[in-house]
Amino acid sequence: MQGNSTVIDLLNKQLTLELSSMDQYLAHAKMYEDWGLEKLHQQLSHEYEEELDHAKRITERILFLEGTPDTASRAPIHIGSNVKEMLENDLAAEVLVKDHLKKVIAVCEQAQDYVTRTMLESLLDDTEMDHIYWLEQHINLIKLIGLPNYIQSQLNNHSE
Ligand SMILES: [Fe+2]
Ligand SMILES: [Fe+2]
Repeated sequence: MQGNSTVIDLLNKQLTLELSSMDQYLAHAKMYEDWGLEKLHQQLSHEYEEELDHAKRITERILFLEGTPDTASRAPIHIGSNVKEMLENDLAAEVLVKDHLKKVIAVCEQAQDYVTRTMLESLLDDTEMDHIYWLEQHINLIKLIGLPNYIQSQLNNHSE
């Protein structure tokens, strides 16, 4: 089915953002694993998988709309050098994704592409309710209990 060209272009920009955050989370997941921060490693592996799923769903939709998915482009990614910086950089990446999703959703509404809109709303739900919420909680935990205590709380999943 031939889709609206503005919608397809914006979907490709969204795809670039999802793939870029996926790359950032892959690096952060592996850094956490290397540092022995097992809980953070597992959380970031989950976020990596989620971005991969978002990228797949957008790619399928672009193909359905008879567009060409751009799986090669990337936005600048920001790898942190310590836990706090990594959490803050991930929050910044998610906020970018959220803002762009809202823009594409509004354009889909105007173009009466309601199925694409519904798909993007589900991505927005993951972005806001899952990832941004978790990041805000954890950045706040560092403020509440201090960085050394926070890091200790993220060592492993086996001692609970
Ligand atoms: Fe995403
Ligand atoms: Fe995300």
